[in-house]
Amino acid sequence: MRNILITGGAGFIGSHVVRLFVNKYPDYHIVNLDKLTYAGNLANLKDIETRPNYTFVRADIADLDEMRRVIREYEIDGIIHLAAESHVDRSIKDPFTFARTNVMGTLALLQAAKEYWESLPERYEGKRFYHISTDEVYGALELTHPEGVDAPFSTKASSGQKHEAYGELFFTEETKYNPHSPYSASKASSDHFVRAYHDTYGMPTIVTNCSNNYGPYQFPEKLIPLFINNIRHRKPLPVYGKGENVRDWLYVEDHARAIDTIFHEGRVADTYNIGGFNEWKNIDIIRVIIRTVDRLLGNPEGYSDELITFVTDRLGHDMRYAIDSRKLQRELGWEPSLQFEEGIEKTVRWYLDNQEWMDNITSGDYERYYEEMYKGR
Ligand code: NAD
Ligand code: DAU
Repeated sequence: MRNILITGGAGFIGSHVVRLFVNKYPDYHIVNLDKLTYAGNLANLKDIETRPNYTFVRADIADLDEMRRVIREYEIDGIIHLAAESHVDRSIKDPFTFARTNVMGTLALLQAAKEYWESLPERYEGKRFYHISTDEVYGALELTHPEGVDAPFSTKASSGQKHEAYGELFFTEETKYNPHSPYSASKASSDHFVRAYHDTYGMPTIVTNCSNNYGPYQFPEKLIPLFINNIRHRKPLPVYGKGENVRDWLYVEDHARAIDTIFHEGRVADTYNIGGFNEWKNIDIIRVIIRTVDRLLGNPEGYSDELITFVTDRLGHDMRYAIDSRKLQRELGWEPSLQFEEGIEKTVRWYLDNQEWMDNITSGDYERYYEEMYKGR
């Protein structure tokens, strides 16, 4: 052991997972396979790209022959599958790309791994196919406590702060799938295929469902980096609807640590929820971002509040996601390490200190994409 294939390693979460594995496991060979779509960026991996235990392969997961070739050539025995189309707004405009990559791509990867592993004398022994999914497959929870109440459970990381919940229900590993957006429908479908490959062929699979991640290297179409960048350029901050939707935020390095733990110690055929125990209404998190950016840029308090612009809501906008990740805490001892205040401060500082990274992305096609996206709002 071990030749590990990480798909989507040039993206946001994938780059943190690749970095963690390359640094922590010098005996593993880490093969990062990525198509380098608009969201893939090798600049995310500058610090580790010359390491002897790291290889980058540019390929499309939906290309079955190419998946067969890569898995055989590198004698892959573990797969951590993150490659996906990941942005809900894009899925509303172009669902087919999401079905192609997230469903057909995952299926091609499963099939290629199956053929290779079944051709070996040891077959599935010591092998693992770990699929990274999202809490969005569970659907949406209601906002039954719009003002927030004390959450019924908490972790060490959140013990110093008030942990609020906006409803009494949480997503557990038993929650029935009920996806609403084309993105979450495609992720749900891929999760079903992964479980089917276990149940039908005996492939050792694991699925995890994680809440919203934040931190360095996130593509600036997602709420937090988009808003940090817009504040810096004094552009409007487009708040969908009334800004009342609730998300559960987790610092990306904590997600990468969870993936490491689960890849090595998780039970085959099992599912683990990963969350931050950290619910926020969008409008509240936006105010925290504005306050933090203004403070770090030396602006007076409240200086950028005027940039808040309420725009037409996202179609089918899920009201609330809230994850119960106590199973992972109980069984494998994982919990978030960062308090949210600490995480958001680190994140804002990172984007302000890495303006070149941001400026390289936010030009050309990106500008045109945004003009198109906000037309009619
Ligand atoms: P991202 O969009 O930042 O990165 C996706 C990566 O996949 C990119 O590098 C892209 O080039 C690559 N990719 C896309 N299509 C491909 C294809 N056909 N073949 C090969 N590579 C391809 O996404 P992210 O936010 O880092 O999310 C990674 C995974 O985690 C996704 O599966 C997503 O559903 C899941 N997830 C994300 C979050 C979150 O908050 N971002 C939360 C839970 C789960
Ligand atoms: O819950 C996990 C999911 O989190 C992941 O599976 C997805 O890949 C990831 O993109 C994320 O989905 P969201 O739709 O929750 O993230 P996004 O950053 O797009 O939006 C967060 C919230 O902010 C959501 O309620 C929509 C709102 N929003 C977003 C943007 C981009 C705005 O109000 N304005 C915006 O401009």
